[in-house]
This record gives sequence, structure tokens and C-alpha cells, in this order.
Amino acid sequence: MSIIGVKGTHDVFGSESCEFSFVENVMKRICEFFAFSEVRPPVLEHSELFIRGVGEGSDVVRKEMYTFDDKGNRSLTLRPEFTAGIARLIVQNKLTNLQELPIKMYYCGPVFRYERPQLGRYRQFNQFGVECVGHSNPVADVDVISLAYTILQSLGLENVTIKINTLGDEESRNNYKVALKEFFAKHIDKMCPDCKQRLELNPLRILDCKVPEDQEIVKDAPKMSDYLTESAKEKFKFVLDLLESMAIPYEVDDTLVRGLDYYSDTVFEFHYKSSKGNNYGAIGAGGHYDKLIKEVGGPDVPGVGFSFGVERIVSVLKDDELFPEDIYNGLDFYVMPMGVKSQASAVAVANAVRMNGYSVDMCLDDVKLGSMFKRADKKHAKFAIIIGENEIANSKVVLKNLRTQEQLDVDISNLRDTIDELFHECECCCGDDCECECCDGDCDCDCDCDHDADGHKCCCHNHDKKEN
Ligand code: HAM
Repeated sequence: MSIIGVKGTHDVFGSESCEFSFVENVMKRICEFFAFSEVRPPVLEHSELFIRGVGEGSDVVRKEMYTFDDKGNRSLTLRPEFTAGIARLIVQNKLTNLQELPIKMYYCGPVFRYERPQLGRYRQFNQFGVECVGHSNPVADVDVISLAYTILQSLGLENVTIKINTLGDEESRNNYKVALKEFFAKHIDKMCPDCKQRLELNPLRILDCKVPEDQEIVKDAPKMSDYLTESAKEKFKFVLDLLESMAIPYEVDDTLVRGLDYYSDTVFEFHYKSSKGNNYGAIGAGGHYDKLIKEVGGPDVPGVGFSFGVERIVSVLKDDELFPEDIYNGLDFYVMPMGVKSQASAVAVANAVRMNGYSVDMCLDDVKLGSMFKRADKKHAKFAIIIGENEIANSKVVLKNLRTQEQLDVDISNLRDTIDELFHECECCCGDDCECECCDGDCDCDCDCDHDADGHKCCCHNHDKKEN
């Protein structure tokens, strides 16, 4: 019997790999513009970190963690999210003492939750996110929301809904919890066993309950907005005013409480419905946390961050056909040795062209030229380099443009210059819609600029290659 993948996991390969890389690269590039730097925390952490950090009242900790004892009887957990691990990383490495605050980090990688798999919901999935730690100014909240919004817009997701709410400060939440406890105590007999536990551990979590009968009861529960202290209200108003002045659209949703216990003040989620009507749930979410760093043994400093679900973002981009065509056309050259005797020269040529900054693959089989062209076509190669015994005798290769079918003989000593000229001449991917100054829709341009009219990096490959 063959072995299949674990339920709730999925393989990423072929064109989907190009899509994941594209999404992650756009996210990384924009994070760098916002002065966040990359961190790579481990996947494995002590279970205690999530129990204390994420909260033992949360569904993630109570039901969804992949927890096991290792051979030394330590209870370890495959991270169900990044934020607690980032807090641990900051505290353990004393970064609040060593670095200027706020500490601004981004991360990307797999997380694990034992959930019921369905559309957009996996047991192993990838998150891309940021944390900004060490500054209590609510401008940091807006900066982080603006970063997330910029990423989504850069990916072409125009119709994003940002749902936002405040959970207030500790005093607001304590008052609210008392009110919730009082309210739910009257209904708890009719509610699910999970809610009975939630009432003791953290009544806020009852608001996340997915059982339809319980949701009916939740509709009449007290609202957070009625229990906010004046300073919590002011902070929230400041955040909303700033978002407005930056033309970042939002909807206040006073039922939004988030499923993780570390949040305080601002919380938010990013929603997007694909034009096909598929609803993947939130494509990202985050918020402000006051006590998490202290909870894991660090100083009393706050943080704010968000995480995107990379699979969900790839799915909505695919549904709405928003992936640029050129992300799939990876291969620049396919080298075709004609006969076994040409293979050594072919390897040398392939490597020389690679060193010039182009992607090159080579046919390793002794097959006919027609078969090699079919392989080049399957790989979407732009050019073929053909090398036979005649060419080797004359120190030449044949260079063939696989789109126009034009071909020319090139001296091996001139090959690198000829290739650079060919690519400079144009492999522009912006076609008639081009607004960039460097080619202006006209692919024969010869200027050296590498940006468009708005200062964005030019979308044609020429200059990237030239810079290498
Ligand atoms: P979260 O809402 O639990 O927040 O997850 C963030 C995002 O991960 C969700 O909005 C969703 O896109 C994606 N996601 C969650 N569960 C699944 C799943 N089973 N399958 C596929 N995608 C999923 C956090 O994890 C917080 N750490 C976010 C944060 C960062 N808050 C502050 N900083």
C-alpha cells in the first residue's frame, strides 16, 4: 500500500511553488521598505511557551496543538503561531537591551494546528507576519496595519475589508469579563461543554464559539465598547483617526475579539472574498499585546503585529487571476548538446551563462534535436543554445530565440556580450500597458534607468540582469 501525506497537509510544487515564492517575495520586499528585518525562529518550542503566551483558555492551546514528549521527557510543541516564539526569541537574546526600540521583525514559515481541514484550513500551513516590539505609541499599531494594507494592495488585492476593534486596557477587559460572566452564568446550562470551561478560564473566549445555538445566545451578550475606560476609548479613536487620515479603509466590528489571549487594545482582521464568491475566512489578522513579553520573562513592553495565511492569499490571488504571467517563465536558456561528444562543452557554456546571471538548464540525454526543442518548450525556455561537433571545431554555438525562431551563430568568446545585448534589446514583460520610463511600451529602448515614472523598480528584466 502506498503512503499518502498526512491529513490537512499539502504538497506545493510546479507552478504553485512559483506562486508561493512570488507572494513571499513581495511581502519580504515591502517589509524591508518598512525597515523590518527577517528572523527565523525554530519550529519546536517548549509547550509552556504557548500555554502561557497564547493562553490556556484559547482553542489553539486547548485543542489544536501538536504536543509530544521528546526522548528526554520534555513537553514540546510544533508552533501553532509565531508571536509567542518571537517574544521568547526577543527575551532570551536580550534584544530589548541590545537594540534600539521598537524591534521590528518579519518571519515566514510553517505553523501547525490540529483543526478540521476544509477550504482554506489546513493542519500545516504557512504564515508570513511581523512583530513590532517595545513602543507604546499607538502610531505603531497604524504603521503595522498600513504595512499589511500596502502588501495586500501590492499583490493586487484591492477589495480588502479591514475589520477592527479594541479590547481596551486591562481594567476595561476585567470589567467586561465580570459583565460577561454574569450574563453567561444565566445561560451556561444550555451551552456546549467547551463554553462551560471557557466561562471559568476566560469568558471572552465564549464569544468565539462556533456552535450555532451558542452563537444565538452570544448575540445578546454585553458589548466591549460599553466597558472601555476613557483612556482606552481615546487610544482607539486616535488609531481610527490616523487610519482615516492615511486613507486606509476600515470597518469597526465590535464583535471581533480574536482567538488568542495575549491581545489588548487594537485588534484587526483582513477579509477578502474572491470574485468567484469563495470565502476563505480571514486572510490575515493581528493586534496589539501589552503583557506577552513580560509573560515570557521579559521587560514590561508592548508589541503589535499581524500574520497572513500564505495559502489563503495564494488561493484568492489564483481565484481572481491576479498572478502576473511572467512569474511562471523561469528559464532563460536551454542548452542542447548534439551528441555525447558535445556534452562537456555544453556544460561549460551552460555554467558560463549562469555566471552571467541567467537561468540555464541543459539536456542530459543523447536525443534528437526535435525532442530537445519539445523539452525546451515544456520548460518555457526563451532561448536555445545548440552545440554540435561542427560548432565546437569552430568555437561557436547556435543561439536561437524560441519565440521568434530567429537564430544566429555566435563565437563562444562573444557569447556573454551577445546574450546581454539580446536581453537588453527586450524581454520586457510590461507590453502595451507599460508606464515605465525605461521602455515606455517600446521595447527597443536603450536607456539605463531602472525605475518607472513612480520610482518603482522597473518591471522589465533587462536592468536586473544588467546589474548582475
Ligand atoms: P491567527 O488569526 O490565529 O493569528 O492566524 C493568522 C492567519 O493565519 C489567519 O488570518 C489565517 O489567514 C491563517 N490561518 C489560521 N489558521 C489557519 C489554518 N488552519 N489553515 C490555513 N490558514 C490559517 C495569529 O496566528 C497571530 N499570531 C497573529 C498575530 C501576529 N498577532 C500579533 N502578531
